[in-house]
Amino acid sequence: MGTPITKAVIPAAGLGTRFLPATKAMPKEMLPVVDKPAIQYVVEEAVAAGLHDVLMITGRNKNSLENHFDRMTELEDLLARKGDLTKLAKVNESTDLADMHYVRQGDPLGLGHAILRAKMHVGRAPFAVLLGDDIIDARDPLLGKMLHEQDKRNASIVALMEVDPSQIHMYGAAAIEETDDPDVVRVTGLVEKPSAADAPSNLAIIGRYVLRPEVFDVLEHTKPGKGNEIQLTDALQEMAITPEETGGVYGVIFRGRRYDTGDRLDYIKAIIQLAVDRDDLGPDLRPWLRDFAGRMS
Ligand code: G1P
Repeated sequence: MGTPITKAVIPAAGLGTRFLPATKAMPKEMLPVVDKPAIQYVVEEAVAAGLHDVLMITGRNKNSLENHFDRMTELEDLLARKGDLTKLAKVNESTDLADMHYVRQGDPLGLGHAILRAKMHVGRAPFAVLLGDDIIDARDPLLGKMLHEQDKRNASIVALMEVDPSQIHMYGAAAIEETDDPDVVRVTGLVEKPSAADAPSNLAIIGRYVLRPEVFDVLEHTKPGKGNEIQLTDALQEMAITPEETGGVYGVIFRGRRYDTGDRLDYIKAIIQLAVDRDDLGPDLRPWLRDFAGRMS
């Protein structure tokens, strides 16, 4: 067994143009999903899997991200003076969550380029990457299994999910071979955002990775790919076909609940799905939704 992984890298430098005008002056990662910014779910997921050291790759206009995970003393003092301990606990939730670090990406040259910015902080140990647009339901744990497989196979691990073939052009797609574990596959190739006709399968990379540090060496020479950006998928493709040097790539198949908050329609669905199951909102929301749906048909 290797040393337990403690570091998570969360790229958060994207411009969020799909959510304009909401994201004109506010990072997309701060959009609330029910009553928590999307990014807090992702940091909570990392911490729940034992990753307490979180490096966020940010960019211009992202100060509110840092503020959210820092103390807010005026608000804390006010709530403490009022004796409102419930709200005070909500304020402190994100402050005490993780050991937060930040580095700026500078030029937005792609996800691979963003990950390369983590090289100094991560050093020569395996680490996790969590993309902020994907929220994995806390009731369907994924990262723990990925960390376990990384340790067992000493490879890099990607999370894969079956999607409708018509959707595969939005993801990295994997060519795979089965293993004796039905939830784990060996990745033999990866293509970033292929057309349905060119896709090697309908297994899509969802935004969770546990990577060996060799990914940095590969990213140093990865040429711009799809969209003229340096793609993490292209670096992982090289690792998949060079197992001797880089450890190869395996996939953990995820069959649980995932919410894509980067897409407006899925964002609305995510809020509804998470809210109906909440004790404080569900009992009122469920009958209202049924009634609303009835009036629509
Ligand atoms: C990124 C990756 C892609 C992956 C996706 C998961 O794309 O490049 O391989 O499938 O995240 O959400 P993006 O959605 O940032 O364009």
